[in-house]
Amino acid sequence: MTVYIKVGKEQFMAKEKSVYICSNCGYHSASYLGKCPQCNSWGTLEQHSVNSGLSAKTNHNTVRPKAEPISMIRYSESHRLDVNDKELNRVLGGGLVTGSVVLIGGEPGIGKSTLLLQVALKCADKKVLYVSGEESAEQIKLRQLRMKISSDNCLVLSATDADDVIETAKEVQPQMVIIDSVQTMTAKEVDSFAGSISQVRACADKLTDYAKMYNVPVILVGHITKDGTLAGPKILEHMVDTVLQFEGDKNYGYRILRSVKNRFGSTNEIGIYEMTSYGLTGVDNPSKILLSQREEQLCGVSVCATLEGRRTILIETQALVSPSYYSSPQRVSNGFDIRRLNMLLAVLEKKAGVKVSNKDVFLNIAGGLHVNDPAIDLSVITSIISSHQDIAVNNKYCFAAEIGLSGEIRPVPYIDRRLNEAQAMGFEKIFLSKYNKDNLTEKYKIKTVLISSVNDLIEELIK
Ligand code: TYD
Ligand code: MG
Repeated sequence: MTVYIKVGKEQFMAKEKSVYICSNCGYHSASYLGKCPQCNSWGTLEQHSVNSGLSAKTNHNTVRPKAEPISMIRYSESHRLDVNDKELNRVLGGGLVTGSVVLIGGEPGIGKSTLLLQVALKCADKKVLYVSGEESAEQIKLRQLRMKISSDNCLVLSATDADDVIETAKEVQPQMVIIDSVQTMTAKEVDSFAGSISQVRACADKLTDYAKMYNVPVILVGHITKDGTLAGPKILEHMVDTVLQFEGDKNYGYRILRSVKNRFGSTNEIGIYEMTSYGLTGVDNPSKILLSQREEQLCGVSVCATLEGRRTILIETQALVSPSYYSSPQRVSNGFDIRRLNMLLAVLEKKAGVKVSNKDVFLNIAGGLHVNDPAIDLSVITSIISSHQDIAVNNKYCFAAEIGLSGEIRPVPYIDRRLNEAQAMGFEKIFLSKYNKDNLTEKYKIKTVLISSVNDLIEELIK
């Protein structure tokens, strides 16, 4: 196609413009590149026509916006909808803000559709439009039957065209719209397949406009790629107000809902769910379930008072150290960063003389959860020492400290919360860094053991 642009008296001939966009990170380039300079992935740049709805939205307002003093800006307190789900309400920062757009990401099969259908059904007093581009209305009905909750206010639409969805929404006037998933939606004017960067962006754009214009909250489901990032352009995360991540090990029942971005609340909140045969149920006291109710003292098992978001969870770390029959010993870790495990093993060998370089080391965090809190270091290293030396750790002891490269035991924050939870769960001793001394108050009955190095820890364990 040839376009003629008139400039003054001259006439130029211009080719139809195309732009190359990285399907991984959304990087734009005027020419084709084999490797994306932003995310370094190969062969991800795709050609798109500029007319395909991808060009940046230009603002043709004739009135130039004025800058005004911040004190003069008028605002209205945002209204929040109660979604009838304690965990989700908390993660959202106290409910769903009307007119906001929330993106929920997670691996396939983790329970996104279950969670959202459940929310739609639990909000029986609100009209909810549940749009599925992945499942038929019949499949959704089957899921509802499994959950044993029903609501006449839950409207189900099986559709993939974004305009059809918006038209239906305008007609039925729901108080909440759920789109499962944004990657299955298509916009007519974009000529690429569903799930492509341009389609995802165009559909999210339309749905965001609808949410803001009609003041209706829209929840988008987003799939996650193998490496854990939301499929589609990173730009999707910028377009929405809140990004939540639904994670957990599919083989275990527990799921964590984490807030990654929240324009209307803190990102420190987490929600914990358990997948049951009739949907997801919120977990009020995670420590109670995550600690195995064992009476006997075992080698290789210790408990950490860890912090997930703002919640303290007591969680078991289990290690098995056994002689290796391979030239390079095996290191396997579930729920804990493998590089950090290797670092802790190196510290143990170099600073405490515990020979683990010829041993296979297997580490497991109970419940299939992934723990990022550095306070788990002490518990990990305790489990390893315990398995290696065959010394059982008292099942009334728990641990919370980070370990430095020179084998020093470093302090961790929020000691009060950790002590509180450990005491409530019936623990008698907690091992902390000696630098946490100033954070301790008299009010706790639980005994504290303050240590400064891995050698101190070993001495305490063999006492
Ligand atoms: P699903 O919500 O379809 O996951 P996603 O939308 O994230 O891909 O649910 C996934 C799993 O949950 C599925 O393997 C079946 C299981 N499940 C239950 O265990 N109990 C239930 O009540 C339901 C509805 C699903
Ligand atoms: Mg699904």
